[in-house]
Amino acid sequence: MGFFDQKNLDVMLSESVIAARVAALGAHITKEYAGKLAGDELVCIGILKGSFVFLADLVRKIDLPVVVDFIALSSYGDATESSGVVQLTQDLSRPIAGKHVLIVEDIVDTGLTMKYLLENLHTRHPASIALASLLEKPTKNTAGVKVDYLGFSIEDKFVVGYGLDAASRFRNLPYIAVVTS
Ligand code: IMP
Ligand code: MG
Repeated sequence: MGFFDQKNLDVMLSESVIAARVAALGAHITKEYAGKLAGDELVCIGILKGSFVFLADLVRKIDLPVVVDFIALSSYGDATESSGVVQLTQDLSRPIAGKHVLIVEDIVDTGLTMKYLLENLHTRHPASIALASLLEKPTKNTAGVKVDYLGFSIEDKFVVGYGLDAASRFRNLPYIAVVTS
């Protein structure tokens, strides 16, 4: 029995459902930025670590010149609840002044992590900033963060897989699930 078989995983979003949605998001992003970039690249910023799987799939569905960068944030608190105290643990490798920026996130829960990041990136004067998030828990989005390109709105359950972890595990699960035991 493999590692995943030994866990009780309640599938919320299957691989094929995710793939279809990511393809649609990529097509939508391509259409929206096609006339806007004027020869420049779209800077896709992945929030480490949770976004790495979504980012890898999404950028391959964006038919435009793309540059990929990463930023790492950690939010203090217990394992499953954000405290709102955010620390930038790894910065971008290049300036974003004058660039069209697409933030790529795994999930917007309380919105506090994203609120902090948006405020931080705005001070660097990009040409524009938009947010793509695979998941959103709308019942929890207290910081009022607006997701421009949303994969799925989900109920308020702790989910794992497709990049999302529980105590650093399950990021390699190919679908989104709730761990029931
Ligand atoms: P926020 O500041 O509450 O919006 O927290 C967002 C961050 O918390 C995400 O980037 C995730 O890393 C993590 N997170 C929130 N909900 C979940 C979940 O259901 N599973 C795994 N990680 C989560
Ligand atoms: Mg995250």
